[in-house]
Amino acid sequence: MSTASSATTGGASGPPGTDVDAAVAALRQGLLIGLPTETVYGLGADAGNPAAVARIFAAKGRPADHPLIVHLHGADQLPQWAARVPDAAWRLAEAFWPGPLTLVLPRAAGVLDAVTGGLDTVALRVPAHPLALHVLQAFGGGVAAPSANRHKKISPTTASDVRDELGDAVAVVLDGGPCQVGIESTIVDVSTGGVRILRPGVIGEEELRQVTGQALAPVAGPALRVPGRMNVHYAPQATVVLVPEDQVAAEVHRWLAQQARVGVLSAARAPAWPAQVHWLALGGAPDEQARQLYRRLREADRLRLDVLIAVPPPDQGLGHALRDRLWRAAGLGDRLA
Ligand code: TXA
Ligand code: MG
Repeated sequence: MSTASSATTGGASGPPGTDVDAAVAALRQGLLIGLPTETVYGLGADAGNPAAVARIFAAKGRPADHPLIVHLHGADQLPQWAARVPDAAWRLAEAFWPGPLTLVLPRAAGVLDAVTGGLDTVALRVPAHPLALHVLQAFGGGVAAPSANRHKKISPTTASDVRDELGDAVAVVLDGGPCQVGIESTIVDVSTGGVRILRPGVIGEEELRQVTGQALAPVAGPALRVPGRMNVHYAPQATVVLVPEDQVAAEVHRWLAQQARVGVLSAARAPAWPAQVHWLALGGAPDEQARQLYRRLREADRLRLDVLIAVPPPDQGLGHALRDRLWRAAGLGDRLA
């Protein structure tokens, strides 16, 4: 594909405005940008340009029928993208946008099939990141942006992750620093009148219930096409093994006995682990763990681990979304649903 020369922005050191201008110019030319958001970095393209959207699928190696999230600069753009906006959707947008919530709504006429994967709904989100909002405002249209990783790989949480992952396929990578949330947005289907979580995230069931005043509909069965719910997703190269805390040491020894390169993802290093075990720290409050999780999975790749042993956090609050991402990394995605 023909791209502009690969520009990398210098974050705070660049002249004000220049980075955003370069990103907007790239979008207008139908090229791809690395878009920082509060959740993970997106791979952005003009959602109204079929050739640009096609570039997303080519760069990611993603099957063409997997739908994309369209990023907007404000809830006032909803009627341009959604054929109907139920009350619950307005309330959620009001309460959580800009923020880590994606709303699935009936698609408006004119939304590209390439964006919706041929579904009659469209996923929409206003991200809470100043650079992303600047780009979206200056561009004016919707920006289709999946996470900026190759298909089935770990979502990027820094600008350099995006460059490592996608290289020259991206014309401009905006450096917005490390992502504040660190895992992907909560996806909520409000297209049918009810409220149903399709992908858990930092905005949890209780908050959604409070804002909408509605009980949440049960999670849909396998008929729904949401790639994020596929078994192997967000996966490092290593085999990910999930065990309760009291079984970590035994698991470590079992793998070492097979000459494996072993890592453990946990809050602390236990004295019982031999020196050759790589400890990847994941501790602190759940929001801190969310911020660190994908960095640690990338470290597991850099260390070329054969196995990564992890202890899932309790299934409470944000722990629910963290377990979801660990389950997927372990190839057990559906067990959680
Ligand atoms: O936090 C996020 O949501 C990030 C940032 C960049 O905004 N984006 C992200 O995009 O995670 P992606 O493409 O990696 O995941 C989007 C998910 C996919 O699982 C897709 O199937 C689902 O959203 N999705 C998109 N449109 C949908 C629709 N109409 N109905 C149901 N699911 C949909
Ligand atoms: Mg993704």
